[in-house]
Amino acid sequence: MKEIYNQILKLTNEELDAMDMSAFKINDNVPVQWFYGLSGREHYRLLAHISSMFEYETLCDVGTYQGSSAVALGASSYNRVKSFDLLAQPEIEYIKKDNIEFILDDVRHHNDVLKASPIIMFDVDHDGTFEDLFYKHLLDIKYKGIMIVDDINLNAAMWRFWASIKQTKTEITRIGHWSGTGIVLFD
Ligand SMILES: C[S@@+](CC[C@H](N)C(=O)[O-])C[C@H]1O[C@@H](n2cnc3c(N)ncnc32)[C@H](O)[C@@H]1O
Repeated sequence: MKEIYNQILKLTNEELDAMDMSAFKINDNVPVQWFYGLSGREHYRLLAHISSMFEYETLCDVGTYQGSSAVALGASSYNRVKSFDLLAQPEIEYIKKDNIEFILDDVRHHNDVLKASPIIMFDVDHDGTFEDLFYKHLLDIKYKGIMIVDDINLNAAMWRFWASIKQTKTEITRIGHWSGTGIVLFD
């Protein structure tokens, strides 16, 4: 996974911004309009590119909301995406992609999915509570892979959470989300 981690660090805005995101359009509202934003402003191009770096893997999305991160992670139909949320979201009704599964449950009940996933996209409530619990859970199950964390610069709770991570990590906001994108290598 270190090789993939290093490849992600080398991605440029130019290559991400050259991606044609129109192929993802489902209707005028799905994915939400910010899905199409340029890299460094929005992170969906980054996620779609990361999807293309894998084949025949199941990628994990924690925090579904309106399904945009799941759609981006599912860009390569060679991969499956399992997207977890605790609350039902009406927008995901429109997302009928064979390779994306939405699951209403605590992801910590799905250790088989977590342990098999080379990429975990993590984007929940940003108050630091579940962030701490989930990080501890990944350590407890000895997760090996890459976690992408959204919104690491959003607020003090997220700064503290990001600072608490002991593994190899890099801030990649320049190619991710304006509110802060981090990448963590669990090896
Ligand atoms: C910022 S939104 C996610 C946005 C989504 N990743 C995207 O890019 O479109 C946060 C979501 O996390 C969900 N959430 C909060 N706590 C959670 C938890 N413990 N497990 C899974 N989802 C959670 C919320 O219900 C909300 O839908």
